[in-house]
Amino acid sequence: MNEIAFRPEVLEQVEKIIGRYPEGRQKSALIPLLHIAQKEFGGWLDVPVMDYVADLLQIKPIEVYEVATFYTMFNMKPVGKYVLEVCRTGPCMVRGSDKILEHIKAVLNINDGETTADGMFTLKPAECLGACGYAPMMQLGKFYHENLTTEKVDEILQLCREGAIDLG
Ligand code: FES
Repeated sequence: MNEIAFRPEVLEQVEKIIGRYPEGRQKSALIPLLHIAQKEFGGWLDVPVMDYVADLLQIKPIEVYEVATFYTMFNMKPVGKYVLEVCRTGPCMVRGSDKILEHIKAVLNINDGETTADGMFTLKPAECLGACGYAPMMQLGKFYHENLTTEKVDEILQLCREGAIDLG
């Protein structure tokens, strides 16, 4: 038996989202449901969580897996409390994203895709996030941090450690 279940108030919200779509088209609610599931179940999408979403939408688990693994905003393994998504596409690279990445790796002692031992930070690769005019940049929660410098990164990391940063 699948023991994964949304809290009643979350389930209510989920049912409203599913109800936006005509009968037989519930799959259209998949991405919003995955966002909610990721938030509700520890910041990542374990297989039983994706199976639960498939059950709710009455679709095959594979239909959930293919979407969840395609989009980088869904995490397929446990992540830290703060996920640092540093853009490394051309414009950000030209403006020094390499230096930002190297700095983060050195300060936190992690590589791409890794999480610090204390479970605080994960460094996650990201491609263009549409803020090229403010390069180099990274996403943290729902917010963008732009025109990054190593000093600015240090300030952001410190704010995270103090629990003083808004993830949205
Ligand atoms: Fe980094 Fe577009 S290249 S936001």
